[in-house]
Amino acid sequence: MDQAPDIGAQHAHLLRLVQQERLALLAGEIALARDLLAEMHALQETHIADEESRLLPRLPQTARWPARIYIAEHRKLTSMLADLRAALAPLAARIENATTRLTLLDAQMPFKHVIEHHFEREEKGLLVEIST
Ligand SMILES: [Fe+2]
Ligand SMILES: [Fe+2]
Repeated sequence: MDQAPDIGAQHAHLLRLVQQERLALLAGEIALARDLLAEMHALQETHIADEESRLLPRLPQTARWPARIYIAEHRKLTSMLADLRAALAPLAARIENATTRLTLLDAQMPFKHVIEHHFEREEKGLLVEIST
């Protein structure tokens, strides 16, 4: 029962989507960015549900980080992604103004940091500890 590669591949997929979505914002392509955020949302939802139902219950007592840490980060990522989608929802399909594009990119930096940090924690902790 080796599910870690699947989870690792999903992390890589999500990070690729984050990158594509940032490139869309940089280009002012808001409609594309919205579609990419929707794709991230769908993937993140199933990814989190899968980890919480299948992986976290297998975390050993000696785990480096307890399940509640992972769960709290999942709640945070879910809420941050919802906020990003809400921020883009009222905007035009395309934005020409460079300052506005930069402001949108800056506003997404915390999400990028939290998701990268979370995946790093899972890859050092959860995924190693449940496969040993
Ligand atoms: Fe996770
Ligand atoms: Fe994960």
